[in-house]
Amino acid sequence: MDNPDFTMYKLLILLFLGLQGRVNASCTEKNIAREGTATQTDTYVDPIKNISLSAARAIDGIKHGRHYEFDFSHTITGGPAAWWLLTLPRVCAICQITVYNRYDAPQRINGVKIWVGVGLTGGNYDGAELIGTITYQSGTYLYDFSDLTVKGSSIQIQGGTSVLSLAEVEVFADSE
Ligand SMILES: *[C@@H]1O[C@H](CO)[C@@H](O)[C@H](O)[C@H]1NC(C)=O
Repeated sequence: MDNPDFTMYKLLILLFLGLQGRVNASCTEKNIAREGTATQTDTYVDPIKNISLSAARAIDGIKHGRHYEFDFSHTITGGPAAWWLLTLPRVCAICQITVYNRYDAPQRINGVKIWVGVGLTGGNYDGAELIGTITYQSGTYLYDFSDLTVKGSSIQIQGGTSVLSLAEVEVFADSE
């Protein structure tokens, strides 16, 4: 028979694995990004159709990002000074963020950074946690950041090397 300390150790390991499983399983299927409000540095207006490529187009549920269907957000400002900010109605335990890229000029996604924080304002990353940096991959249209354990009410996306243009941003939170 095991000595009692060793048994306790095994129980703790099982408890830990069990909790890990529960945490992963609770990452909800529901995209909460659409409950938030999206803003961005500035907004490019298509000069031919006079259509504003607003920040809200990245949380409109339309993910395919084709230019002449105007279903992505698009700043005028380029580079790291460009930002897109999603403000959620409450602080959530965020477990996954998925970024859908546009189909034309997809390389513009390269170097884009994803931050999570609480009460962030546009272009301000103080106290925010860097979730990841997107490296453009030809033929890849969605970039997943999963298994996250970060609490926040703000998801801020910072421009990379070009203007900031996003087809869709989805955010999933632990259902607790
Ligand atoms: C472009 O759209 C805006 C907002 O809908 C409108 O106020 C403006 O008059 C339009 N401009 C032209 C040239 O159609």
